Amino acid sequence: MSTTKFRWGIIGLGSIANQFATGLQSVPDAELTAVASRTQDKADAFGEKHGAAKRYGSYQELAADPDVDAVYIATPHPMHAEDSILCLESGKAVLTEKPFTVNAAQARATIEAARANNVFLMEAMWTRFFPVMAKVRELIAAEAIGDLRIVQADFGFRAGVNPESRLFNAALGGGALLDVGSYCLSLASMLLGAPEQITGVAEIGETGIDEQNGILLRCAEGRIALLSSAVRTNTPQEATLIGTAGRIHIPSPWWKPSKLVLTRDGQETETLDLPYTGNGYNYQAVEVAECVRAGKTESSVMPQDESLRIMETMDALRSQWGLTYPMER
Ligand SMILES: NC(=O)c1ccc[n+]([C@@H]2O[C@H](COP(=O)([O-])OP(=O)(O)OC[C@H]3O[C@@H](n4cnc5c(N)ncnc54)[C@H](OP(=O)(O)O)[C@@H]3O)[C@@H](O)[C@H]2O)c1
Repeated sequence: MSTTKFRWGIIGLGSIANQFATGLQSVPDAELTAVASRTQDKADAFGEKHGAAKRYGSYQELAADPDVDAVYIATPHPMHAEDSILCLESGKAVLTEKPFTVNAAQARATIEAARANNVFLMEAMWTRFFPVMAKVRELIAAEAIGDLRIVQADFGFRAGVNPESRLFNAALGGGALLDVGSYCLSLASMLLGAPEQITGVAEIGETGIDEQNGILLRCAEGRIALLSSAVRTNTPQEATLIGTAGRIHIPSPWWKPSKLVLTRDGQETETLDLPYTGNGYNYQAVEVAECVRAGKTESSVMPQDESLRIMETMDALRSQWGLTYPMER
């Protein structure tokens, strides 16, 4: 552990920013140095609550602060690219909330900004960094269930319909695919690589966003992913990885996973307890600091080209559904 604190800034002080700020408290060598909101009062209240000394009423001021090492971008999806690029061009390391951007073009521009400025950039796919997911990667690499053939995953939750909310408002990048389908696609990508064939169906609701969808991906060597996501129904929220010699079941892959169930053909089913520390948002912050301190500009656990590929897959699905966002027209 370094003796110097790694200094964080947060842009966009809504719901997830509160979770991330809480998560930082369990990272011994991290400090929440600065926070920025579009309004000074909100920045002051958030800074007070989470102990950030610097409180800005504009995102630009935080991006220009020389005392900030990395910025966590916690604005709605359509602002991720612009807010990330603002910070990258100021030489800050950036951790951008999921989905990485709204579309692949924005993802490319964001990655280009990171590379042009030689600074760190990572999508905040927080679930990838839990001990459970590290164990999944280890078991799959060791062929504990033989050759992985099928990934099944779903993420649906019942949100109250509010046309103005981030989830239902097309101008804020609403819809199940970008908000929660992104988790399922990210898991499939992590385990199966790039899709060779992408098929999906969706129900587009009255606010013009996908309220539910079903996705089928065919990946290398005939491996398949069956995924679904929704914002008007509570689905089981599970993932099952099926191989030629067994299965791994992750009962709660998206919300603070702490166990998995391993079934090897012909053997007793085992439950592996893999507890997490903090509130779970701490792991991705540790990854950023470790990478930046090691002089890396990206994470091997959540590489930039993979975030881009996931956005390309979402573009392909939305194209099949005729779903475009106002900022794309
Ligand atoms: N990793 C996770 O578990 C997780 C969970 C939830 C959400 N997320 C992601 O985090 C991002 C933010 O989600 P959230 O639930 O925290 O949203 P939220 O509560 O609405 O907060 C978003 C914040 O962004 C800022 N903002 C800037 N422009 C805005 C605009 N035009 N309209 C509304 N807000 C605007 C606001 O902060 P200021 O007023 O301070 O400027 C707002 O408080 C999303 O991309 C989402 O996918 C991740």
